[in-house]
Amino acid sequence: MPLRCDLIIRDATLFDGTGGPRATGDVGVSGDRIVAVGDLSAASADREVVATGKALAPGFIDAHTHDDRAVLCGPECLRCKSSQGVTTVVVGNCGVSLAPTRMASRPIPPLDLLGDESWWTYGSFGEYARALERSPPAVNTYALCGHMALRVGAMGGDVMRPARDGEIESMRKRLAEALTEGASGFSTGLWYKPNMNAPTEEVIAVAEPLRAAGGIYVTHMRDEADRVCASIEETLKIGKRVGVPVWISHHKCSMPENYGRSAQTLALIEAAASMQEVAFDMYPYPAGSTVLMPDRLREECKVIVTWSVPHPEMAGKDLAEVARGWNTDRRSAAERLTPAGAITFQMDEEDVRRIMAHPLSVIGSDGIPHDAHPHPRLWGTFPRVLGLYSRQLGLLDLETAIHKMTGRTAALFGMEDRGVLRPGAYADLVLFDPHRVIDRATFEDPIQPSEGIEEVWTNGVPTWRGDSGLTGERPGRLIRRHRAA
Ligand code: ZN
Ligand code: CU
Repeated sequence: MPLRCDLIIRDATLFDGTGGPRATGDVGVSGDRIVAVGDLSAASADREVVATGKALAPGFIDAHTHDDRAVLCGPECLRCKSSQGVTTVVVGNCGVSLAPTRMASRPIPPLDLLGDESWWTYGSFGEYARALERSPPAVNTYALCGHMALRVGAMGGDVMRPARDGEIESMRKRLAEALTEGASGFSTGLWYKPNMNAPTEEVIAVAEPLRAAGGIYVTHMRDEADRVCASIEETLKIGKRVGVPVWISHHKCSMPENYGRSAQTLALIEAAASMQEVAFDMYPYPAGSTVLMPDRLREECKVIVTWSVPHPEMAGKDLAEVARGWNTDRRSAAERLTPAGAITFQMDEEDVRRIMAHPLSVIGSDGIPHDAHPHPRLWGTFPRVLGLYSRQLGLLDLETAIHKMTGRTAALFGMEDRGVLRPGAYADLVLFDPHRVIDRATFEDPIQPSEGIEEVWTNGVPTWRGDSGLTGERPGRLIRRHRAA
């Protein structure tokens, strides 16, 4: 009997996600799975797509997002991701997760990156998981439980100090519970003011349930500037003491005096990787973005306002320009703007390239989906790596670039049967034009879908079409870390 599929994509250039060489062939899909890869000329399907000259790859996995809320408000909220070919997002990063803590008033920064108190209604991780099930997005969600959400829950408003034993115990319990209810790991954001007060020992004590649950520790480190190496050491120590894999978020060397130091940090990570499981993600821009912190401004670093509660009209403006308009300095202007968000140009393009090209890195956008004038990484990260850094600059070949967005990411996070093109894997797929794919989002005009992404499928269901946009389908699932046997 000839094979009959729901969908066959024919004559595509296949990138299987493993980093191995491209090959021309067909991919057959039935239900939510890939059923055949290779020469399917004897097979037929309900729908056939002829993809001559087009690239077919596993759907991209966004290793670092703040989409905790965006995954709950329908496909429209994640147009920024579907339009890039993303089929899975990792939420709950930098210590910030929407569960398991309810908020009675506006949460302190950086928790408010996800919104005001009206969004903080999930008292347990299970409630969050059920909300996702009731109202799924177009992408799969892989969730981390955030240290800061746990801290605010356990310590009330009093978070500018180390947690006490009873509070640590309560955080540890909440984390253990979250890990049984669908979270795959634990994230910290030790650089942020409230969390800087958490000593290494607090993190180790809270993270303890990860070991039994087979979870992963993910961190926005205590310092990405002068003390970046000490922060890497701290991260490695936490991993060793808890006995779990560690993941360094948005790896960078921040501030002008540290430009060039990625040679040092990458060597340090590489040496550690031979002894313990360590991974890191990066985004392809020399500017970061987070909440606006007036006391952390640096004279040499340009700042663009991304949102402001008291002055929403300033979104998109250079902070220096806002300050001039108000006849004051940048610091006072920043104080008037808060609560607010900002983009800061604080990296060296050479470091960005060295980190991207390093064999151990994977790609994560760190996009912030609810900002009025977001960092362009929200809409542009994946096509930018493919179009600018791979095709135009030749920094990495397409096989490697795709591996860093698919197979490598899935293997490190333990996303079983994802990130690869092979029979039996989930049909998370992206079809794109390798000659045309490019980001269009810029710092001036950041809300721009990319070019060249032709069709995207999540679990076998089309979610995005290049010519007509979102399909409105919501096939995304909550996926959990698979424990290696
Ligand atoms: Zn972060
Ligand atoms: Cu982040």
